[in-house]
Order: sequence, then structure tokens, then C-alpha cells
Amino acid sequence: MKYIIGNWKMNGSNQLLQEMKNTLITDNSELSVIICPPSVYLSESVRLGFTTGAQDCSAYDNGAYTGELSAKMLSEMGVKYVIVGHSERRKNHNETNSLVNAKAKKVIKNGMTPIICIGETANNYEAEKTKEVLEKQLKESSKGIKGILAYEPIWAIGTGRTPTMEEVSNIITFLKEKIKENDLKISAVLYGGSVNGIDAEAILEIENLDGVLVGGASLKPTEFQEIIDSVK
Ligand code: PGA
Repeated sequence: MKYIIGNWKMNGSNQLLQEMKNTLITDNSELSVIICPPSVYLSESVRLGFTTGAQDCSAYDNGAYTGELSAKMLSEMGVKYVIVGHSERRKNHNETNSLVNAKAKKVIKNGMTPIICIGETANNYEAEKTKEVLEKQLKESSKGIKGILAYEPIWAIGTGRTPTMEEVSNIITFLKEKIKENDLKISAVLYGGSVNGIDAEAILEIENLDGVLVGGASLKPTEFQEIIDSVK
């Protein structure tokens, strides 16, 4: 099973969902295509029949948390997956590994699957600290969590700069080893960061890689379809 996940971030509209509905052909049983639009479009995405993911959720069940949505609310809407710990949340909202872990626990408690994001900064990468940083994020964010992991080098997100296929392959192998060694319940490891219609085929051929998390290119129906079609 390969996952192709579209993270719309703060983009899109009901109209774009409809365009996706008219364009996308996702009838490959070896493939799970998941659309993660902003919260206000989640119910329309579910209504149109997309397997739908949210981009975040609260670490609390309910209460005085203005602007937040609980995992239960998302699940009631028909959402099946929730991205937690995206680097933009970690950076812009100071989310820590323990908060990410708490959110992932709520996602599971409400019958959905968390997509936990981890990734090194450009400084970590240049200082050759990638594996060290990832191991800590992996262990702390996904402790006790049954879910999916997305490896997204922060310096590759939205930049058009990507690691080499060899580097991705090496990191995926490393993460899978650590998952096993630490008895973590992560069932799939994805890559994310500037995946586009052209590179997708080579990326998806990487042994051990279970799919991709796509930002910008998931907003363009034709290009997103190209990525979907790259799964052999
Ligand atoms: P990008 O974003 O594909 O636009 O680099 C990926 C992500 O942030 O998940």
C-alpha cells in the first residue's frame, strides 16, 4: 500500500475540491489518496467521497481553547487521518515533541490515524546532525502511537530543494531500523518536501518508502494526478 497525501495548508476552496473530484482518478487498490484541506472544507471533502485528513487537532478533549478543534469533532465529521507536528506547526506554534505525542494520542482515541511529521532544519543538515535530530523526534513524538510517519526535511519544504534519492533512501532505512529497535508502532514511512509531478516517480521507487506527503503540488489537480500515476 502506498500513500499519497495532499496537505493543502491554508489554501484551496470548495471549488478546488470539486475540481479535484472531477479530475482525480484514484482507483488503484494499492494506493491510498488522502486530501487534507483546511478545517472549514473537511466536511465537503468527506461529502465528495475523498478519504480526508485534518492538518492539526487539539491535545485536549474540550474546554476553553478558542479556535481549536478536538479530535472527536474531526472524527464526527468523517475525518480519518490527522497530520500532527508539521514543521510549520512546530515552528509557528512552538509545538514540542510531547505536545505532538499528546495530539496523536487523541487522534487514536477517536478512531483516526495520526500522520506524525518529523524533519531536520538546514542547520542540522549542514552540521550532519540529521539522524540524531530525527531519532529524538521519532522516539518522543511517536511513543505509544499507532500511525504513519512523514519525514520532511524542513529545508526541502516549499523550496524546490530536495535531498538526493540516495539520501532519502538512507534516512528511510535508518528510520525503519529505529522504529523496529524501539518497538514503535509506526506502520508506514513517507517522504515530504517539494515533491512534484516530475520527481514523484523516482521518489516513489525508493525501496522501503511507503508514499509521499505533498504540499504545493497537491493544489494542482493535473500535477497531483501525475504524482498519483507515478505509483506503479
Ligand atoms: P511542499 O510541502 O510539497 O510544498 O514542499 C510539503 C509539506 O509541507 O508537507
